[in-house]
Amino acid sequence: MRQPFQNLVVDHMTFLVEPRFYKVTYALFRLVFGVEPEDVIYNKRRTWPGEKEEKSMTFAARLGRYEGRPGLDSAIVAVVEPSEPAGQSSHVRDILKNRGGSAHWQHIALRTPDLVAFHEHCLKLGVNFITPILKDEEEDLIQVFSGEWTLPGRRPTGIFFEFVQRDPDPETIKRLEARQAFFRDKTFLGLYQQKEDEYRGGRVQPFIDDALFLKIESALGDKPVWRLDERDLSRVESLMLDYARPRIAG
Ligand SMILES: [Fe+2]
Repeated sequence: MRQPFQNLVVDHMTFLVEPRFYKVTYALFRLVFGVEPEDVIYNKRRTWPGEKEEKSMTFAARLGRYEGRPGLDSAIVAVVEPSEPAGQSSHVRDILKNRGGSAHWQHIALRTPDLVAFHEHCLKLGVNFITPILKDEEEDLIQVFSGEWTLPGRRPTGIFFEFVQRDPDPETIKRLEARQAFFRDKTFLGLYQQKEDEYRGGRVQPFIDDALFLKIESALGDKPVWRLDERDLSRVESLMLDYARPRIAG
């Protein structure tokens, strides 16, 4: 049964491209997709240590407009290039290389009307997150990032989910503060650094633990997907809840 907090709609997507593709992507978005200058909602720049010139790390473009609720119902794509100097590690560069180069869809952000409830629901089922719930200072937005959609023992895919809630009410913010959620003012850089640390450390968090994956896989057995019924799913749900219970308690 779908809960209200599971009414997930696409909020934005993040697109990684090689540096050679970055400006070309900008031009293609402007000309092919009709993105106007005011639809480029941000452009984050940074001077890396040891470099003189500022580099663009990411820009976000709003594609099209929705008449009723501008900003909420148009597709937003955040484009990211590996802007680090050649000698410096870059998880964006690593992901692009792992995935064959050129470009890669990194995360899709799904918007929920109640992020706190959705997040709790996910934790109960053993979903891994790489950040606590973050509050964006510039935008009226709270967000949390999942682990990567990777098979046990395989190279990290660089594909994950973000879950967001826009315009959270002050009560929600207070509840989050009470739970010592982690607030950062620059969430793009916060996520960026978190991913960088994971890739540098060689331990990239998966969406669910390998052990949980294997339990689910074996519970589903060799039935084809169209034969899976509610009893199969409730068995899987129980084992996910059992798996996560000690983690939540601890
Ligand atoms: Fe995002």
